[in-house]
Amino acid sequence: MVSTCIQNICCIGAGYVGGPTMAVIADRCPNIQVNVVDLNESRIKDWNNSDLSKLPIYEPGLDEVVERARGRNLHFSTNVKSAIENADMVFISVNTPTKSKGVGAGKASDLRWVEACAREVAKYSKKHTIVVEKSTLPVRTAEVIKSILSSAQKEDNKHDEPKTFEVLSNPEFLAEGTAIKDLENPDRILIGGENISAVEALAQIYGQWVPNENILRTNLWSSELSKLTANAFLAQRISSINSVSALCEVTGADVNEVAKAIGTDTRIGSKFLKSGPGFGGSCFKKDILNLTYLCRHFGLPEVAEYWENVVKLNDWQQERIARLVVQKLFGTLAGKKISLLGFAFKANTNDTRESPAIMIAKRLLEEGAELAIYDPKVEGYQIKSCLSDTTLNVNNANSNKYTVNNDGRWGSAEDIYSSLKGADAALILTEWEEFKNLNWSEIAPIMRQPAWIFDARAIANQEAIKAAGLNIWRVGDGSE
Ligand code: NAD
Ligand code: UGA
Repeated sequence: MVSTCIQNICCIGAGYVGGPTMAVIADRCPNIQVNVVDLNESRIKDWNNSDLSKLPIYEPGLDEVVERARGRNLHFSTNVKSAIENADMVFISVNTPTKSKGVGAGKASDLRWVEACAREVAKYSKKHTIVVEKSTLPVRTAEVIKSILSSAQKEDNKHDEPKTFEVLSNPEFLAEGTAIKDLENPDRILIGGENISAVEALAQIYGQWVPNENILRTNLWSSELSKLTANAFLAQRISSINSVSALCEVTGADVNEVAKAIGTDTRIGSKFLKSGPGFGGSCFKKDILNLTYLCRHFGLPEVAEYWENVVKLNDWQQERIARLVVQKLFGTLAGKKISLLGFAFKANTNDTRESPAIMIAKRLLEEGAELAIYDPKVEGYQIKSCLSDTTLNVNNANSNKYTVNNDGRWGSAEDIYSSLKGADAALILTEWEEFKNLNWSEIAPIMRQPAWIFDARAIANQEAIKAAGLNIWRVGDGSE
């Protein structure tokens, strides 16, 4: 099969996706020069830090991959122009958040950074360039990118060797916390495109470590839409099990037992059935909202409503956990200390984007609580930036916002024990390994009695908590 051999890659965007993805490509393809560029100087400085514990992203195994490839064929810089000029293939891996104002505010993706990248590629590229959409994009975005690139092509046709472009869609399915594992051993690689030679050029890169049968080729639009659909399906499972968790609590059932019972049916499968404080992370909510925006745009309001409910249920789960804490602590949090264990949206990452902890913490602060927040990977300044936005989204699917009147205060705790000292309650929000086997008989005496443990991840040792004389609420547990 005819395909272009790629020797030089540029990736625009050195974030959670661009950094790890390019590090793995560089590691697996030592003959390809990989230049990761970003406008954010401090992020690039951190990627170049000789102390690998200071990389801008925490991902298990990332430091080792970066150590092997950096300086050899993996380079991080802010020089976007030169990286594009030299590239045979440019990955666009920039942020695509939900629009905060204007047409489609609260739902549509803000494509300004993607458009800026397309314009930069149009301006600086010098030869045939394959442009790869790595960011998650609304279906038919490739049309926008193509139209920007083709204008540059027309302007350039005076040269002997005019610049030419192909656009591919290659969405990323990695999950944070397991990014390196997911990249090194992906369930599948998805490539959407019209030009076989361009598709095969990209397939050849992944083919260095991914079996060919796991590299799926589709048309552009199927590829773009598959990414949004995959995230919508995953989020839907979480909202489904969380809806059942509430029912378990009032009927005497246990959500973990129900999840196991249904998950052993191979048609349902056991993954993504863990009930918790709701899904967080930068993508599930934004991608579903984007999907619903597209549905309405294409005249499918019933389909939009169907998916909107996944987000509504997620907001409700967070809201109900916050309300439950207030209710169990005699209806008021004024003058009470609550230890928040975990602030990241999931374990093994320092990412706090859309973390359920943010909404829940704001609610508790509003009730006058004093929060002592401990997370092994999230720094105080990061928590501060999350909590300093005093607006709270209520029912995000409709993008209503109201202002929180924070009566309480918070501090970030150095360690678990200082967070728990004198606390009336502990609320476990992230499933960090170190929260699973805490010594509750040692903890009970340092808390103010009667004390509660709210286990929103169902990870703590319930028997040990009870034996230590502490009250316990566990998500989805109706046995009490
Ligand atoms: P991020 O915010 O961590 O990183 C994006 C980077 O792009 C930022 O550092 C920003 O400075 C840079 N950037 C923006 N415009 C630029 C420009 N014109 N030139 C140079 N740099 C520019 O975002 P992320 O989490 O890496 O996500 C990127 C995309 O991947 C999004 O579309 C997201 O939906 C998708 N995605 C994310 C994940 C994830 O786990 N985070 C997984 C799969 C897909
Ligand atoms: C998710 C998808 O899993 C990735 O495939 C996708 O590439 C990525 O979004 C993206 O597009 O950004 P991520 O958000 O990093 O990855 O992490 P997940 O493991 O999916 O967890 C998302 C949220 O759901 C977390 O808050 C997690 O705690 C929660 N979750 C997950 C549950 O509450 N229960 C579960 O059973 C699984």
